[in-house]
Amino acid sequence: MITHHPLAIAVMAAGKGTRMKSETQAKVLHTLVGRSLIMHVLKTAFELNPVTIYPIVGHCADQVQTHVMEHPEGLPAERICWVAQTEQLGTGHAIMQLTEPLGDFKGHLIILNGDVPLLTVQTLQRLVSTHQTMKHAATLVTTQIENPTGYGRIVRQDGEFIAIVEHKEANPAQLRIKEINAGVYMFDWAALQNVLGRLENLNAKGEYYLTDVIPLLIADQQRIGTVTVDNPTEVLGINTRKELADLEAAMRHQINEQWMLTGVTIRDPDHTYIDCTVQLEADTEILPGTVLQGRVKIGNHCQIGPHTQLKNVTVGHHSTIAHSVAEEAIIGDHVTVGPFAHIRPGTVLAEKCKVGNFVELKKAHLQTGTKASHLSYLGDVSIGHHSNIGAGTITCNYDGTHKHKTVLGDQVFIGSNSTLVAPLTIENDAYIAAGSVITERVPAGSLGIGRGRQVNKEGWVARNKQHKTE
Ligand code: UD1
Ligand code: CA
Repeated sequence: MITHHPLAIAVMAAGKGTRMKSETQAKVLHTLVGRSLIMHVLKTAFELNPVTIYPIVGHCADQVQTHVMEHPEGLPAERICWVAQTEQLGTGHAIMQLTEPLGDFKGHLIILNGDVPLLTVQTLQRLVSTHQTMKHAATLVTTQIENPTGYGRIVRQDGEFIAIVEHKEANPAQLRIKEINAGVYMFDWAALQNVLGRLENLNAKGEYYLTDVIPLLIADQQRIGTVTVDNPTEVLGINTRKELADLEAAMRHQINEQWMLTGVTIRDPDHTYIDCTVQLEADTEILPGTVLQGRVKIGNHCQIGPHTQLKNVTVGHHSTIAHSVAEEAIIGDHVTVGPFAHIRPGTVLAEKCKVGNFVELKKAHLQTGTKASHLSYLGDVSIGHHSNIGAGTITCNYDGTHKHKTVLGDQVFIGSNSTLVAPLTIENDAYIAAGSVITERVPAGSLGIGRGRQVNKEGWVARNKQHKTE
């Protein structure tokens, strides 16, 4: 990117987002295909390699700042300079807060709306090059949109851009204008700084509108202009939950199409939900109702779904997961999971493991070829290779105060309906008789039996029947 002057970027994110109707959450923390609105904007902004990014925060400032610092997704945090706007008196007022941190900065300032998440780097590059080659003091991004309700309208006189009129201030003729302000601007900071102090709030909202700097710059004989994007989706702002859902649907389709182009089969793209942070490999098939969230990584030739939710899960190659939920887990090659398995955080399944219906795993490490095919709870457990966990096996890992570990060796066989009371070790090649309650170590190669002996009382039925009829 050729910039002749240093570049700073501001991201306006202080607003309450009244129209989202949220009691607790800042608007820019709402997520779109698995990434917060603010992170979408910051990630795009950093691609321009600015010297500093100034997120302007106010409403729920701590929440926004903590979120970004905790999920930086590789962004250079040292180049983020947080700016507080304690009272939200409008977008113009937000930018006034930069007066101190930017000072007499001799460069350009790009301003982005924190609630316009789909903006592309290509558009920003066009903004930069137009701004510089035309020697503008201000350039803004516009688009034509079928339903411009709520947006600032671009007012032109003989084709020359002269003002932005907010929806609430527009007269009937202006309301019919379909060219709108995307909320994305590039300014020469010195020129902008000169006019910021002259902004007034005598308008429908009683706010200092950043958009009002345009006529002030014109009065100062500054050159201004626009860059128009063809695809209005790119600059859609999110103000309501309906807009959030609409934009998410659009992005979801884009994501699914991209995966299909790389060789992933998606049976029903309308009902497949893949976050932007997911990685898939070719010849994997995703069945309907599947939700892949966060850092999900799936190898080739897998079949995932139907109706499967994976969150921060890594899956190897040739594995199958159906009707199941897994979180924070690592699943190896040729593993079969489900239907109806629940894999909780800290679980690692080595290759060729099998986890069947109604099996819950938590912090469970299963080595190669180990199977838990039905109805089990295995928590805080490490199991060697080629062991078989019978139906109804439960690890009693919790004594009411502390969690304890269960360690099972290789080729262990746990008979059905066994209760393994931790802390416990069952060594290699040991067998546990069905229905046992095992509380002590079982040495290698032994059979552990922990249950009452069966007693048959011969003739008991007949004797009891006699008593009854007497
Ligand atoms: C704004 C533009 C409008 C444009 C639209 C594009 C103004 C006056 N209007 O309208 O022309 O078509 O964006 O999406 O700028 N914010 C602050 N501090 C404040 C107020 C807002 O940081 O005091 C932030 C908000 O958090 C939001 C962004 O600025 O991220 C835009 O504010 P919003 O109220 O959504 O502006 P719009 O009415 O959408
Ligand atoms: Ca907005």
